[in-house]
Amino acid sequence: MITDIEITKPEPVAPGEKIETFKRGTDVSLTIEALEAGNPILVTEFYSNGLSLLRELHSHLSRKLPKKSFQEQREYRSEYHKLSNLILIRIVDQKLAVKKAPSIGWLEKFYPEINEFLLSFPQVQGLNSSWQWYQNGLSIPVLRNKVHPYYGTYFPTRFEHLQLFDDWLTGYEGPRKSAIEVGIGCGVLSLQMVQNGFHKVFGTDINPNAIVGLAESMGDTELSRKIELDFGNLFGKWDKPAELIVFNPPWLPKSHDLDKIDEAIYYDENLFSDFFTGAKQRLLPEGKMLLIFSNLAQITNVTKDHPIERELEDGGRFQLEKHLKKPMKASSGKTKRDQAWRSSEEVELWILVHK
Ligand SMILES: C[S@@+](CC[C@H](N)C(=O)[O-])C[C@H]1O[C@@H](n2cnc3c(N)ncnc32)[C@H](O)[C@@H]1O
Repeated sequence: MITDIEITKPEPVAPGEKIETFKRGTDVSLTIEALEAGNPILVTEFYSNGLSLLRELHSHLSRKLPKKSFQEQREYRSEYHKLSNLILIRIVDQKLAVKKAPSIGWLEKFYPEINEFLLSFPQVQGLNSSWQWYQNGLSIPVLRNKVHPYYGTYFPTRFEHLQLFDDWLTGYEGPRKSAIEVGIGCGVLSLQMVQNGFHKVFGTDINPNAIVGLAESMGDTELSRKIELDFGNLFGKWDKPAELIVFNPPWLPKSHDLDKIDEAIYYDENLFSDFFTGAKQRLLPEGKMLLIFSNLAQITNVTKDHPIERELEDGGRFQLEKHLKKPMKASSGKTKRDQAWRSSEEVELWILVHK
């Protein structure tokens, strides 16, 4: 059963020995020194005390570290990640044990049997914002219904690529019997295919939360018979050839200096060659393979390598049918002014066919 797959969730920490606390009035510099020495700090009294400690940590690190280039921003994030995760908060009876705290439904869902434990403050923030998205749902311009992204699952925050894909789907004149989507995430591309008349979509993901979340949200509806899921690498158990293969892969190469490797965003060196090998076997003779990509890695000087161009040049397996592009609107947020490269960001839709 898909719903028996073990999901990824923050690891609860047992409330052990005495930990230094942080509340209103605690010396901030001493607290940050303790964090830098690798000691945990427990936020007490009000939820907002945790928020203000994080703000202090940001201003402390901004004074210490440059944050201009993409690389420097990564290093800053990694240091912030390390220190902020030493800031802890207590959970009692599936609720945050501080005043004026948000109520987070994931705590009951994920830890029904643990009555007291600690989590890091950033983990709790992650659970909280994910719970808001999950409960309220996300309206996506090209979809009829809202999606409810499950905890720890990638979901789109900009929609240009979905628009490109939708435009292509509308004009697609081939058969609509079956498609395979590798890396289904919270299901947007598969839902677009179903909405455009595809009878069956076989989806995979290596993220258990994506698979469990989608299975839960589809329940026993008609949709669950149209979108079949498998928790697995690349094509998972799906062997039967399909007329469409769709993949919106991670857009950046993995960097080893990151604490946490997010597989929705960073690809490892074998991902694309393994994908193309599997796709070659599973694409019907007249089938189309669609890849969504972006120039993000190139414009931020992370790499000059473009895995799809490389496949087309050296792979000998596929040829290009069409290449569509669309400029990405800059996302809002206060880091925007530091990211001049954002203005040249473009999303790409690659349509490949057998050679
Ligand atoms: C950029 S997200 C796209 C998600 C969704 N298709 C969308 O367009 O919103 C990439 C997805 O691919 C998944 N993924 C990464 N590597 C994978 C692999 N080797 N096999 C299957 N899924 C993978 C990630 O977990 C993530 O859900």
